[in-house]
Amino acid sequence: MVDPTWDMAKESLGEGHSGTGARAGWTHKQAERIERTDDTVAPIVYPPATEQIPEVHIWDTWFLRNRDGTLAEVDGYRVCFSLTAPSDLLPGKRHDVATIRCFYSDDGRTWHNAGPVFEDALGQRQWAGSALYDDDGSVYLFYTAAGEDGADDLTYTQRIVGAEGGSIDTTDGFELSGPWTHHELLTPDGERYEREDQSRGMIYTFRDPWFFEDPETGETWLLFEANTPVPEGSDVCGGDDALQEFNGSVGIARSPTGDPLEWELEDPLLDAVGVNQELERPHIVYRDGLYYLFISSHLHTFAPGLEGFDALYGFVAEDLRGEYVPLNESGLVATNPENAPFQSYSWMAFPHGEEVLVQSFFNYYDFDGETLDEIAHLPESEQMRRFGGSLGPTLRLDVEGSRTHIIGTLGHWHIPLAGETLPPTDRELIRRGKQ
Ligand code: FRU
Repeated sequence: MVDPTWDMAKESLGEGHSGTGARAGWTHKQAERIERTDDTVAPIVYPPATEQIPEVHIWDTWFLRNRDGTLAEVDGYRVCFSLTAPSDLLPGKRHDVATIRCFYSDDGRTWHNAGPVFEDALGQRQWAGSALYDDDGSVYLFYTAAGEDGADDLTYTQRIVGAEGGSIDTTDGFELSGPWTHHELLTPDGERYEREDQSRGMIYTFRDPWFFEDPETGETWLLFEANTPVPEGSDVCGGDDALQEFNGSVGIARSPTGDPLEWELEDPLLDAVGVNQELERPHIVYRDGLYYLFISSHLHTFAPGLEGFDALYGFVAEDLRGEYVPLNESGLVATNPENAPFQSYSWMAFPHGEEVLVQSFFNYYDFDGETLDEIAHLPESEQMRRFGGSLGPTLRLDVEGSRTHIIGTLGHWHIPLAGETLPPTDRELIRRGKQ
């Protein structure tokens, strides 16, 4: 069942998209409607209890999932993977040394560090990805290899890698081990997906692989963050050079056989040419016969003339390759309060019963009125003091048709176990009180 706003939202497609090859586009007009509302602003985050703070800084996090997209539970354990860095390192430097660590929990609240996953990963450092618990119990990790192996300096080349060979042993606690074999799966083709040497924007992206099996067709896909090549002199965005540099896209590749290590690039699922430079960590939640595509993006990656936020944005379509329309008309789903605009980032949505839950990491707090760039120039002790570097509270979302509402939060790093009943939201309590 689709709500009445659906037709209205679909009409907005008439505004036309960037026409760069992707089936759907996030248009300038849609993004102009971005504004904070009661339904899209998350509550203020307070630091977690000391015992909940991991001994390393963590940021982008993803869960071990089954092929059907549900969160895996292996002999009672929830499992997640996070980008991590030593907690005495300046927060801005963490991307340069990022290492993937595994964490596990038997109650969805208290998490234990199972240590770095790889000894021999590809790239100078590893950026975000996803993890598959296959039907035979084998674990695959998809990640971004950032930087060229063997280069003396730090480089920014990005490749999508799949690691096979993982298995979990719970006979004596929890252990994830290899031996892992790393396969380079995808690099940008320069036609559908921009290569580093074609980039005209502030940064190029080809990263954040996310495994998805389409429940309607059974087809196997890998989504990722990318950019659409826009050659100089092109007439997209009315030929406006300043806008064309903002060319983020959601890329997609198909596995013809379902093999998690064999992928063929296809046209992007959606792009945002003239709108936004980075559509980060794309992922899909399938619900009520609809495909909800979510991405994270930053205030500073919106094109001139647009005012966006560090936020979770989303789109919905009737088919995986359908005509995505922005949720809540603009795309904005969850953002930070105006007086703490960088408190969370890197949101990841997943279904839980009737609700959609959203996990993110606790980024910078006590941070009113400054930009992320400005914080990098504060005294080091200030940068350290303001960085969270742990998982934030889980958001609870009510999702219907093309509308979403934040209806409450769970604790820091609370990822409920399958079937766990969630406490009543404030809204429910008020409604019950009135009856
Ligand atoms: C989002 C992100 C990801 C990337 C990682 C690098 O927070 O930019 O796109 O994989 O951080 O640290």
